[in-house]
Amino acid sequence: STGIITLDPGYKNTGSCESAITYLDGEKGILRYRGYKIEDLAEKADFLEVAYLLIFGELPTKEQLNKFHNDIKEHLEVDEDIKKIVDSFPRTAHPMGVLSSLTSALTAFNPSVVDINSEEDMYNAVVKIMGKFPVLAAWTLRRRNSKPYDYGDSELGYVENILCLMFKKPNEKYKINPKVVDALDKLLILHADHEQNCSTSTVRIVGSSHAGLFASLSAGVSALWGPLHGGANQAVIEMLESIKQDGGDTAKYMEKAKDKEDPFRLMGFGHRVYKNFDPRAKIIKKSADDVLADLGVNDPVLTIAKSLEKQALEDDYFVKRKLYPNVDFYSGIIYRALGIPTEMFTVMFALGRLPGWIAQWREMRLKQEPIGRPRQIYVGENQREFVSLDKR
Ligand code: SDX
Repeated sequence: STGIITLDPGYKNTGSCESAITYLDGEKGILRYRGYKIEDLAEKADFLEVAYLLIFGELPTKEQLNKFHNDIKEHLEVDEDIKKIVDSFPRTAHPMGVLSSLTSALTAFNPSVVDINSEEDMYNAVVKIMGKFPVLAAWTLRRRNSKPYDYGDSELGYVENILCLMFKKPNEKYKINPKVVDALDKLLILHADHEQNCSTSTVRIVGSSHAGLFASLSAGVSALWGPLHGGANQAVIEMLESIKQDGGDTAKYMEKAKDKEDPFRLMGFGHRVYKNFDPRAKIIKKSADDVLADLGVNDPVLTIAKSLEKQALEDDYFVKRKLYPNVDFYSGIIYRALGIPTEMFTVMFALGRLPGWIAQWREMRLKQEPIGRPRQIYVGENQREFVSLDKR
């Protein structure tokens, strides 16, 4: 018992776990990474610092951070044969499906990260995947756009190089507005971990069988892809766009969201744990205003989003069910303003969540947790006698 929640001693990895990484209080809308408030980290730290904090438990010194980044840069390169795998996908393949496959393929090219028996093995696996994952993520977009696969510019910062990997034109020195980099850095921090959400639980349970880190992360990417989870950020923009196409009649869509016969859901609203405002959504909403103003972008879907939010906060159906905007409601508006295509939004979520997945996998393996084995309540048939085919 940590004084916060007490787990039944018999819980033995039934899918619930003890963790020292992220604390959230859904009623009070509190989120902390290793004890630090998300509001402070989003304002005062950068993404690589937060990645280091989540994975190793402490904010890094300047030397530790420089070494971490340099070690990551040492491992950007992937085996040239992976480019053949990227080329084997149709250009129209969803980037999350490609990314999950490429992440799993890394295991075939890096067998050394299958078994982790020491802190040194662990550190090497961490810097390898922190280096290679953004490259593979960017190559999913370059495949769609028929652009060459390269490694960006190692002179750039970690987050800046993610943008460079995605958008750099051949033979150009990549330059990007620092405000765009800051906005993306903040978004990635806000997505970095979120305790035992669907994709993180997937990474932990796959890793609990002692499957390697890369194989476990590949499973996490697949889980995040779902529109009820990380795929919601793409679904939100598609929803806002269709409302705009339909004349911007937000009241009509509010009614649709409440109609049990109508499959329409207000994407970006509701949360399994937050029954108050998602603290990340508050920060992202303000950042959306700032980024669009800084970049001089006027995006009509932002107006539609704010209208939906205002109506929902005053509507008994949503208030009674404690449905508030979540992390996905405004993030897509910023990604779009940064020039990131809609089909890459969930990939951006995965890039942010990577250190959280790694941290949770590392914690589970260092604690030598037993193999995951969720239990069930059987509600099927009692025992019955077999009936041969000719008598059925
Ligand atoms: C993420 O777990 C995490 O931490 C996830 C995440 C992370 O950082 O990892 O925070 C990231 O996945 C955020 C959530 C993104 N998904 C969406 O925005 C999709 C839309 N949201 C819903 O599908 C839903 O709210 C969930 C999936 C997020 C939560 O589902 P729950 O907690 O299982 O809620 P529920 O389905 O039991 O709904 C409770 C009630 C139902 O009505 P009643 O049956 O009680 O009458 O609320 C209604 C639902 O119909 N409801 C909605 C709604 N969400 C719930 N009604 C309309 N629109 C919605 N979005």
